[in-house]
Amino acid sequence: MHSRRPELWKFVAPEVIFGVGALHLAGQYGRNLGGSKALVVSDPGVLAAGWVQQVLASVERADLESTLFTQVTPNPRIEEVATGAVLYAEQGCDIIIVVGGGSAIDCAKCIGLLAANQGGIRDFVGVDNVSAPMPPTICIPTTAGTSADVSQFAVITDREINRKLLIISKAVVPDISLIDPTTLTTMDPFLAACTGMDALVHAVEAYVSLGHSSLTDIHALQAIRLISSNLQKSIAEPNNLEYRNNMMLASLQAGLAFSNASLGAVHAMAHSLGGLLDLPHGQCNAMLLDGVVDFNYGQAEQRYRNIATAMGIEVDGLPSAEIRKRLLVEIRRLRETAGIRDTLSRYGVHRTEVHELAEIALNDPCVVTNPRKPCQRDIEVIYEESL
Ligand SMILES: [Fe+2]
Repeated sequence: MHSRRPELWKFVAPEVIFGVGALHLAGQYGRNLGGSKALVVSDPGVLAAGWVQQVLASVERADLESTLFTQVTPNPRIEEVATGAVLYAEQGCDIIIVVGGGSAIDCAKCIGLLAANQGGIRDFVGVDNVSAPMPPTICIPTTAGTSADVSQFAVITDREINRKLLIISKAVVPDISLIDPTTLTTMDPFLAACTGMDALVHAVEAYVSLGHSSLTDIHALQAIRLISSNLQKSIAEPNNLEYRNNMMLASLQAGLAFSNASLGAVHAMAHSLGGLLDLPHGQCNAMLLDGVVDFNYGQAEQRYRNIATAMGIEVDGLPSAEIRKRLLVEIRRLRETAGIRDTLSRYGVHRTEVHELAEIALNDPCVVTNPRKPCQRDIEVIYEESL
């Protein structure tokens, strides 16, 4: 049964400023944190959308100097971090401002780790393996999903071994997150779908995690409610700020939940896919969620019943088997109406790769808090059913 609860828990979060216009406070908060020169980290897509220019204008208004670094790719790599860290040092930066999605934020966090610590990124992998915190760091997220702007996680790809490296530490919690729902209006619909489903997976995995607490539960359930009732609408009406606001709030709450409760088998399996095959994170999560819920269900029936209720499913008087069925149907419906209809085989994942993918996933730190302990074959079956 799902009964292990920690006797003690802690909850870590950055200072959060949430609302339309928050991104224009970047310069002011950079100054408040004592910065004089900012490394502004972003990626080419966010630059093209115009958000970087607005942040740079804010930085300039506050009389801060800045250097721009945008050489960040999806599933960012150790080499990109190294390039950014050299620029940070050469330019004499003393603060990091990152505007972008999870890739840019994770890359910026790792640049910060190199700026503050001896050694390379591989030295910090695992739980609590960082000694010094990053330099003062301000995050401005431009997707409603990854929540890297509030989390204790940084994920970076090591192309030498084709693995995603996970760094889990209080040292990578940013100082300030300026969360401005306006930035979501330039996301294309598919990115909105993938990041929104990533946020749903964060909330679901945090809620059933063996590391959950009363405080993470509240945030997780509220995130599930908000995503279920706003994801589709936010994609259908991209400029509707009410829906974007609700999705941004959902992402924040899911992030606060998973950062402190950790995750589960969906993320372990998605990390494996991202590392070995360079597949996009949110999409992998979306394609794997129903399979993992089906696998876990019997170990956390009451928790999944609460999730079903939060998703708007009528559960009163229904036997557990029926709730399980309806929950799986609803997860698939939400994913498909958001626009994610592919399976893993569409992205070139072959049955022959499943064994190695499962081996890597079983060694991912996220699998530790999954409510049901999987064996190699369990993970292989979930992959195979998602092909
Ligand atoms: Fe995620």
